[in-house]
Amino acid sequence: MFGEPVAHLWTWRLLLLLGCVCVSAAHDVPWSCPQRCDCHLETQEANCSQKYLAAVPEGFASDVKRLDLSSNRLKTLSRRQFYGLSKLLELDLSNNVLSMIEVEAFQGLPSLRVLKLKSNRLKIIPVGVFSGLSNLRSLDMSENELLVFLDHTFQDMVNLQQMNAGENDLVFISQRAFSGLPNLQELNVDRSNLTSVPVEALSQLSGLVRLRLRRLTIGALPNNAFHKLHQLRSLKILHWPSLDTVAANSLLGLNLTTLAISNCNLSAVPYAAMRHLVYLRYLDLSYNPISTILGSQLMDLLRLQELHLVGGALVRIEPAAFRGLPHFRLLNVSSNRLATLEESAFHSVGNLQMLRLDRNPLACDCRLLWVARRRVRLDFDGRQPTCAIPERVRGRRIGDFSEGELPVVFTCRQSYIPDRRPQEVLVEEGTTALFHCRADGYPAPSVTWLSTQQTMLTSMGRIRVLANGSLEVRYAQVQDSGTYMCLATNAAGNDSIFVKLQVQGFPRNRTAPYYPEIGWSTTGYPPSTNTSAQMANPYPFDAKTLVIATTMGFLSFLSSVAICFVFIFFWSQSKGQIKHTATIDFVPRSSMGGGGGDGDTGRFTMKLI
Ligand SMILES: *[C@@H]1O[C@H](CO)[C@@H](O)[C@H](O)[C@H]1NC(C)=O
Ligand SMILES: *[C@@H]1O[C@H](CO)[C@@H](O)[C@H](O)[C@H]1NC(C)=O
Ligand SMILES: *[C@@H]1O[C@H](CO)[C@@H](O)[C@H](O)[C@H]1NC(C)=O
Ligand SMILES: *[C@@H]1O[C@H](CO)[C@@H](O)[C@H](O)[C@H]1NC(C)=O
Ligand SMILES: *[C@@H]1O[C@H](CO)[C@@H](O)[C@H](O)[C@H]1NC(C)=O
Ligand SMILES: *[C@@H]1O[C@H](CO)[C@@H](O)[C@H](O)[C@H]1NC(C)=O
Ligand SMILES: *[C@@H]1O[C@H](CO)[C@@H](O)[C@H](O)[C@H]1NC(C)=O
Ligand SMILES: *[C@@H]1O[C@H](CO)[C@@H](O)[C@H](O)[C@H]1NC(C)=O
Ligand SMILES: *[C@@H]1O[C@H](CO)[C@@H](O)[C@H](O)[C@H]1NC(C)=O
Repeated sequence: MFGEPVAHLWTWRLLLLLGCVCVSAAHDVPWSCPQRCDCHLETQEANCSQKYLAAVPEGFASDVKRLDLSSNRLKTLSRRQFYGLSKLLELDLSNNVLSMIEVEAFQGLPSLRVLKLKSNRLKIIPVGVFSGLSNLRSLDMSENELLVFLDHTFQDMVNLQQMNAGENDLVFISQRAFSGLPNLQELNVDRSNLTSVPVEALSQLSGLVRLRLRRLTIGALPNNAFHKLHQLRSLKILHWPSLDTVAANSLLGLNLTTLAISNCNLSAVPYAAMRHLVYLRYLDLSYNPISTILGSQLMDLLRLQELHLVGGALVRIEPAAFRGLPHFRLLNVSSNRLATLEESAFHSVGNLQMLRLDRNPLACDCRLLWVARRRVRLDFDGRQPTCAIPERVRGRRIGDFSEGELPVVFTCRQSYIPDRRPQEVLVEEGTTALFHCRADGYPAPSVTWLSTQQTMLTSMGRIRVLANGSLEVRYAQVQDSGTYMCLATNAAGNDSIFVKLQVQGFPRNRTAPYYPEIGWSTTGYPPSTNTSAQMANPYPFDAKTLVIATTMGFLSFLSSVAICFVFIFFWSQSKGQIKHTATIDFVPRSSMGGGGGDGDTGRFTMKLI
């Protein structure tokens, strides 16, 4: 009955003793550390940075967690160089002169999470160098001289989340180079000598969330450039100085929330390529030579919140540019050439919180009154927009105007066409007609012409609007006839006038020149003929021919008649059968009656000599 508690006691003593042995062992054996390194037991770090090491030193404690070998003179890493450091989490080899890493150099580092190889002289990474790094999360290979990524280079890094391959001389990324990286979320390629987007290689990265491609010399984003990257949310294409083409289907398959294509050579917003990005919230197209943001073209980007187009060539943001964007709250268009930004560009300016409009040659008139009115509520990010015109307020900041000044400064004068004399022009087919339309107002109204079919006429084509607002109809055709409208529009209102064009068609296949052009001159000619009727019944001769023919016919008729009479006279004389009168029946012209044809014949008597 006593045996049991005694046995318990002994067991407890034994356990205690063992425990003491263990603890004292940990304290007694010193934490091993190579001579030239600084080791910190508490953090389990070994710091061998900047120690002029030409080779990796030996003798690290097997449970070291962080090893810093940066800024030394390491040239090579041999096979199983760090074997046995099974607890190592971080290894920093940056700023060395590594040009050669043997296959399986990192074998035996099952816990390694972070590997830094930045700023070395690596030209190539043989397949198998990274084998065994199945827990690596972050790999930095930037600032080397890498030329290619071979197939399966990163094969075993199933947990890799972040890769930096920037600042290399990459000319080629093999199609299967990125295979076996299902969890890679972030890839940065800054500066490389790639000449096309490595479409196939990228398509292996099915888990990629953020992609940054910077300083590439690629001129076009081809269709389906990023297909299969269904998880990608942020795409940054930065500093591609020759990128001028974004194919309409280049972003197909993507569901982005952030898109930046900045410091490139785009001359237009790539509306078509972005149309399906309905989750896009942030768009940056800064530093591209884009001159216009068109109206109603961004409305598919339902969730867009921010647009940055800084340092572009913007001269115009059209009305309804941001229509259909209820969440739009930040517009950053500083450093452009905008004269104004009209309230009508926005879906609702009530939602707009931040506006960067500084460094634009702004005209402070009624179009910017909405900004002035909101100058307290709107956040200008510390950069107030300033007026460039009118002269009397040049250089003044919009936020500094007092309430009383607003209705005096921010004004416009409605457009007005002062010359309202009727313009009715009759021209001959094939000649040129000119109509004038000059409008006053502030800001200077834009003049547009509408055709007889109400379509807007441009500065191109046979019927064109001249730079001074006049309308020119060249090689006038009969079907150009009709009423044209000149419309002068500015922010304060519009004005219009109507002009009339009548084009006189001429008969076809003429054999001699038509009437001289003088008679048909320009203004004030009343329409005299129904030209479309003439068109429908083309006359086989022209008028001059007709006149000549008629004249000649009449002369020959007279002479024939004369000869006839002479003949009859001599004949009657010779026969002796004398009849001194002849009676001729005729049908009178029905000028007074309508119908005629009721047998109302007249007659006259001729006396022969
Ligand atoms: C190692 O030491 C260097 C200076 O010798 C220091 O700059 C560096 O931050 C240290 N590394 C770590 C990981 O503490
Ligand atoms: C990569 O491009 C840079 C700059 O254009 C050039 O200096 C370098 O020689 C190129 N490298 C290769 C391998 O083509
Ligand atoms: C950008 O485009 C313009 C014309 O669109 C061209 O003249 C210029 O050379 C291009 N710039 C670059 C760096 O390709
Ligand atoms: C697109 O991305 C958004 C935001 O990350 C997400 O809510 C949505 O489900 C995604 N749609 C598809 C089809 O993947
Ligand atoms: C607007 O763009 C400029 C230049 O890119 C940047 O410095 C600034 O932070 C941006 N402003 C906002 C509010 O994002
Ligand atoms: C506009 O220019 C055209 C040709 O350049 C000229 O014939 C016309 O008279 C001009 N209109 C006005 C109103 O000056
Ligand atoms: C002209 O002005 C009226 C009222 O100011 C407006 O309703 C109309 O839409 C304007 N027309 C054009 C073409 O701008
Ligand atoms: C003009 O004459 C030619 C041949 O003489 C004929 O083929 C053509 O159809 C005529 N055109 C018209 C408009 O009558
Ligand atoms: C011209 O003639 C056509 C058909 O002959 C007729 O429909 C049209 O009303 C006429 N126009 C005028 C202005 O007389």
